[in-house]
Amino acid sequence: MKALSAALALIAPVQAGLRFPCSTLTFQRLDPAGQPGSLPSAHVHHIVGGNAFNATMTGDVSSRATCTTCQMADDFSNYWTATLYFKHPTNGSYHRVAPMPVQPLLGGSDGAKGGLTVYYTQFDLSKDNLNQNPIKAFPPGFRMTVGSPTATSKDHAGLSYQCMTGGNRGAITDAMPTKPCTGGIFTTHHFPACWDGKNLDSPDHQSHMYNTVTSEGFTNAPKCPSTHPVRVPQVTFETVWDTTKFNSMWTSGAPNPFVWSFEGAASGYGTHADYMFGWKGDSLQKAMDKSECFYDGCGSITKQKMAVANQCTVKDFVNEPTEGWLKELPGMAM
Ligand SMILES: *[C@@H]1O[C@H](CO)[C@@H](O)[C@H](O)[C@H]1NC(C)=O
Ligand SMILES: *[C@@H]1O[C@H](CO)[C@@H](O)[C@H](O)[C@H]1NC(C)=O
Repeated sequence: MKALSAALALIAPVQAGLRFPCSTLTFQRLDPAGQPGSLPSAHVHHIVGGNAFNATMTGDVSSRATCTTCQMADDFSNYWTATLYFKHPTNGSYHRVAPMPVQPLLGGSDGAKGGLTVYYTQFDLSKDNLNQNPIKAFPPGFRMTVGSPTATSKDHAGLSYQCMTGGNRGAITDAMPTKPCTGGIFTTHHFPACWDGKNLDSPDHQSHMYNTVTSEGFTNAPKCPSTHPVRVPQVTFETVWDTTKFNSMWTSGAPNPFVWSFEGAASGYGTHADYMFGWKGDSLQKAMDKSECFYDGCGSITKQKMAVANQCTVKDFVNEPTEGWLKELPGMAM
């Protein structure tokens, strides 16, 4: 994967998609897509993006946000996943695992802090399908989730793990690594790319979307069905969790000690992600229609320095520790 990304970076600009870093905005028990209105939500999330983030988010997010931790300056969306914790194999205490910027990005991560990398693809990793199947950007107020914390088997194509050896990502697996990873644990969340064209949300936060991709990686989403006829950008998150400082406490032969913030199945099948659209005006549609957007090089699309992005913050709505050695995962006390 590293070699592939590096090779792609050398290809001359073609119509393709966006890829950009977003620094960590906050770690909190808030979930305005999966559990709107809950303050706090059930488990801790790692959240990036705009500062309109709140327990309830409706309407045009971009009209309320004034900054974003993402490199694309017009993107006030929020992107979040559960947070990874290390569960001490003998005393059972939990410690939050820090995310670190995903490499390689053209020009490095430009000083991103933690965070994750966001992709909006049109066809697959390197091609567009603008001629055959125009991509429609999401409307204001749109949100969706993928995966489920209660899953005990593979829930959805595109949710995966990689055990990193140094900067090398390694094989894609459905479940958490079963041995220490010297470069950290790489997680990927691909969202479905077919929308019903009507609903900004649905009761389960997923049925307004439809997934036609059946394999891992950046593959073209086959034709959308008549129930969900509108092709939207395929949104993907990549996160690298810096598990390395816990590896010496992972006793040889013991089961995987890394758990999501809701604990869930030891396999990690409960991996899931949330998206709240918040691009300003028609900026995402313009980016998707452009021939000059090729990942890190995206022409006239306004970017900000990550040093500026890193200054964007939100308040602590929940006021509870999520960091340090914890006897229980936040919200999970018996
Ligand atoms: C969060 O949402 C509440 C309720 O809608 C609102 O009163 C509050 O001002 C919001 N806080 C921030 C910091 O946006
Ligand atoms: C568990 O072990 C860690 C690492 O040695 C330690 O810092 C933590 O305080 C321990 N927790 C308990 C409850 O003893």
